[in-house]
Amino acid sequence: MLRLAVLASGTGSNLDNILQKSKDGLLDAQVTLVVSDRPGAPCLDKARAAGVPATVELPRMEGESRDAYDARLIEALASEAPDLIVLAGFMRILTPAFCDAFAGQIINIHPALLPRHKGAHGVRDTLAAGDAEAGCTTHFVTAELDGGPTILQASLPVHADDDQASLAARVLRMEHWLLPRTIQLFAEGRVAPDGRIADGPSWRHLPGLDDATWSDGF
Ligand code: GRF
Repeated sequence: MLRLAVLASGTGSNLDNILQKSKDGLLDAQVTLVVSDRPGAPCLDKARAAGVPATVELPRMEGESRDAYDARLIEALASEAPDLIVLAGFMRILTPAFCDAFAGQIINIHPALLPRHKGAHGVRDTLAAGDAEAGCTTHFVTAELDGGPTILQASLPVHADDDQASLAARVLRMEHWLLPRTIQLFAEGRVAPDGRIADGPSWRHLPGLDDATWSDGF
């Protein structure tokens, strides 16, 4: 069983999805630690409700530097010895020291087709750019924001009548499909440090997936 630590700041629907799929035996992985930088965030309630062994509220202290915060974060994570750290809506930029401490062990889910639309507004920026396709990407986390090697990516068409809410909802459902697949690939030891998949499945880049075709029961 892969030991997962999940870092989240908000709603935690990706976390919830991982917890459910792990419980259903669809993942050879178990969430052993959840850390949130936002006290009282719904993701923490979801973790506690699911019986995650350790949940940690780690708000930034007044005046605390990013380095000092990340040193506390490293400590919280190291004590649980996770195999993989999953950023699922964690809204802090991590320092190079943090990325180095867990090099090759941190992944993120981003709601856009990287390398397009890095940053905190992937869906909004996709729509604003008039792109024909939106999507999501799982990638290794390095010191370069949203810049580490891509692992999996899947796309869906932007509809003419999409607004930010409708597109974000479809992208989020796609995230719930892509992130567990990525985690399972780690559990199977199939992800190389450059993001390549051993015996790479053909669905690494899935053009044009939409609601009707991509829910396959995972
Ligand atoms: C997701 O869209 C993720 O890609 C982004 O933040 C959102 C988190 O959603 N980084 P949730 O908290 O998992 O519901």
